[in-house]
Amino acid sequence: SQVQDMSSEKVRAAKDMAFVFDIDGVLVHGDRLIPEGKRVLEILNGDNELAIKIPHIFLTNGSGKPEQARVEQLSKILQQPISIEQFIQSHTPMRALSEYYDTVLVVGGEGYRCREVAEAYGFENIVVPNDILAWDPTIAPYRKFTEEERRTSRPRDFSKMNIDAIMVFSDSRDYATDMQIIVDLLRSENGRLHTMAKDPVSQRIPIYFSQGDLLCPTEHPYPRMSQGTFRIGLEAMYKALTGEDLERVVYGKPELATYKYADEVIASWMEIIHNDEKLPANIYMVGDNPASDIIGGNMYGWNTCLVRTGVFQGGENDENNPANFGVFANVLEAVKAAVKKEL
Ligand code: G3P
Ligand code: MG
Repeated sequence: SQVQDMSSEKVRAAKDMAFVFDIDGVLVHGDRLIPEGKRVLEILNGDNELAIKIPHIFLTNGSGKPEQARVEQLSKILQQPISIEQFIQSHTPMRALSEYYDTVLVVGGEGYRCREVAEAYGFENIVVPNDILAWDPTIAPYRKFTEEERRTSRPRDFSKMNIDAIMVFSDSRDYATDMQIIVDLLRSENGRLHTMAKDPVSQRIPIYFSQGDLLCPTEHPYPRMSQGTFRIGLEAMYKALTGEDLERVVYGKPELATYKYADEVIASWMEIIHNDEKLPANIYMVGDNPASDIIGGNMYGWNTCLVRTGVFQGGENDENNPANFGVFANVLEAVKAAVKKEL
């Protein structure tokens, strides 16, 4: 019948669209729920006229804890199931680097959580700045190294082993110490501490950053500096000390590699929920930050929706990186508009 045709047409359309959600400023603020975020997930998880799952994944520049832990925390706040198979944080694609590097310095984050992240990614020999301090505290002359930190670190003789690469996973909790150690390694012979390379370039180990945001909104009235500013500081120091430019790789939004990775995750998520590994034709990115979510989505050919619940505080649309599908009061308005257009 006509009614049946119409509804099977709608089911096809529902499987041919997907949402990519930014997290901070769209679904939550830190640990605080944005109520429209919860409603949106209910709708997409099946509370809709077709009683069908509408594919969606999460793409955040957040970092600092293992995927499983972060997904559990988010599920609790949003009171909706979230699988790690539909979840990408800034360092998730860096998992692939464990095939190339055995011994890595992992920088950033709280306590030893980024060590856990690197372990989960399969890196064999993980070093964090505290392991180096416990071996040689003179490396960071102004740092007060506590007994507790010494007890929980894993010192080794770093003058007898090479570190193959530097991975900045999350925000540095101690710029002075982390920058000193990173610059020492970049200037060393192939990543061996207590050495200084004669030629700064040919023996330099690679450095990776999990994301490039300059600023991050927090409880403070003005956004706080993030990994992007940390990187720019390092680049300037390295240039001043060696005369050379620092080559580096940055992951996260709005870098192209991250959007390609997201396509793979959407396709495999389609296999999980609809037994059909394919990339839907109409992808909607919902984000609050024009300089990461929106510019990246625009460049990648996605439909972009900018919401007013986070970083963006401007007028009709962002002047530099306007959202191509529109600006919305919140994530629920954006999803309703997209669903209305497609179904
Ligand atoms: O700036 C880092 C992080 O807080 C951004 O998260 O979810 O808005 O990409 P998100
Ligand atoms: Mg955001």
